[in-house]
Amino acid sequence: MSCFDNIDKARTPAHVAVIMDGNGRWAAKRGNSRIFGHEQGVEAVRNTIKAAAKAGVKFLTLYAFSTENWNRPRFEVEALMSLLVNVVKSEADELDKNNVRLKIIGDLNSLPKKVKRETESIVEKLSENTGLTVLMALSYSSKWEIINAVKSIATDVKKGKILPDDISQELFDNYLSTANIPDPELMIRTSGERRLSNFLLWQLAYAELYFTPKLWPDFTEEDFYEAICNFQNRERRFGMTSEQLKKTN
Ligand code: FPP
Repeated sequence: MSCFDNIDKARTPAHVAVIMDGNGRWAAKRGNSRIFGHEQGVEAVRNTIKAAAKAGVKFLTLYAFSTENWNRPRFEVEALMSLLVNVVKSEADELDKNNVRLKIIGDLNSLPKKVKRETESIVEKLSENTGLTVLMALSYSSKWEIINAVKSIATDVKKGKILPDDISQELFDNYLSTANIPDPELMIRTSGERRLSNFLLWQLAYAELYFTPKLWPDFTEEDFYEAICNFQNRERRFGMTSEQLKKTN
């Protein structure tokens, strides 16, 4: 039986974030190049988008390229950039058919012009869709995002648009690239690593963390459903006691 049958759709997390890790190790195990691992990881991206849509997830954030990834060897960075843009282009019609919207989060100005232009045109093409929103984190890091938010808030205070006392958690949310999007309730990381790696540090404050030893190219639809079932079997207390929760439910 598939784990899918055990998912309680009414309690599916609205937002799931994924650190797709292990492409390099997957390829090395097979005596292949790291680039081959990234190419094979594309199928796992398809599986994950399909599974998220079927499970009723509304927002899916995929950590595709971190700010720190710019420090990788130049040929790997170039190969990843062209893979990312080619995948976005070649999948655009399929995403459109499935009513999927795309949003890019990250420092878009640091991307090669062609990558920026072409991804933005696909974002525009899919902008009227109303189903699952895929947020692709590209040249993204949480500390970069938080500093950016702080700078914008400081500018708005200086201009008199807001007062220092107006600064609240809700206001801060609105200065992040995930403004108006609920925080992820579940974060999945593949490859056995147990780190956040500068990913959505503010937004993941209360997320359930799910780590699987599977390397990213091996991640299947069923693996995604297992993560959702595991999430649904956890007690989310938000600082309260079990007894308090039982009373409110
Ligand atoms: C981490 O594995 C993976 C990445 C840095 C890139 C992820 C990109 C893809 C899966 C390609 C397609 C993606 C989209 C969204 C279209 P790693 O290289 O860190 O692996 P390692 O830890 O084993 O070295």
